[in-house]
Amino acid sequence: MRSASDVGAAPPGAARASDPARRHRFAWTITGSGHFLTESLELAFRLPEVDFFLSAAAEEVLPLYGYPIERLRERFRVFRDKSASGRPVGMLYDDVYHTVVVAPATSNTVAKCAYGLSDTLPTNMFAQAGKLGIPGIIFACDGEPVVITKSPSDWVELRPRNIDLENVERLKRIDHCRVVESVTSLELALDARLAELSLKWSTLSS
Ligand SMILES: Cc1cc2nc3c(=O)[nH]c(=O)nc-3n(C[C@H](O)[C@H](O)[C@H](O)COP(=O)(O)O)c2cc1C
Repeated sequence: MRSASDVGAAPPGAARASDPARRHRFAWTITGSGHFLTESLELAFRLPEVDFFLSAAAEEVLPLYGYPIERLRERFRVFRDKSASGRPVGMLYDDVYHTVVVAPATSNTVAKCAYGLSDTLPTNMFAQAGKLGIPGIIFACDGEPVVITKSPSDWVELRPRNIDLENVERLKRIDHCRVVESVTSLELALDARLAELSLKWSTLSS
């Protein structure tokens, strides 16, 4: 039986060279946040070549806000959080994605990303993109002291805790990622990324 030591360390230069020029799609990850979900998706729908990656919570929350997964699947590739290891992350190594977006990001996902945790599909995509130097854009939408948000049935006033606000600040120190805190800043960040890639918004919307 072969042991781990039989496999040995890869010799220098043995790793498959990545080719950033081949990267041609946006990986858009969605978490279980109802706050700014619709506004975020409206932007995602206008991007060229975008695939969605859902957390388990996103899968539950999306239909509550009028986005059944089957309907998203009619127009987009949708990857669900069905493995402990975040298997779809492998596509980052295959040079499929030039940008990873997390929008909207729950307080939970912001905290995990800020502390380098990666145990959901969105947090795995975010962490692995960072390790590969692929730019990330994360919409931390609970960054204000008072947040008015839409529950599936009504408007609600929330006061993010100090720990939530501190995590957003900490997140800003993570490499290869841009933290945005409003829909306008998210649109501007996407606009800038499209310009860097010599791409344009698509004319299609929801
Ligand atoms: C209808 C609904 C709306 C929610 N909206 C938010 C939200 O706006 N922000 C937030 O931080 N959590 C929100 N949550 C709670 C998250 O879904 C929950 O914390 C979940 O564990 C987050 O997992 P994720 O970060 O892996 O997606 C909401 C839950 C429900 C049921």
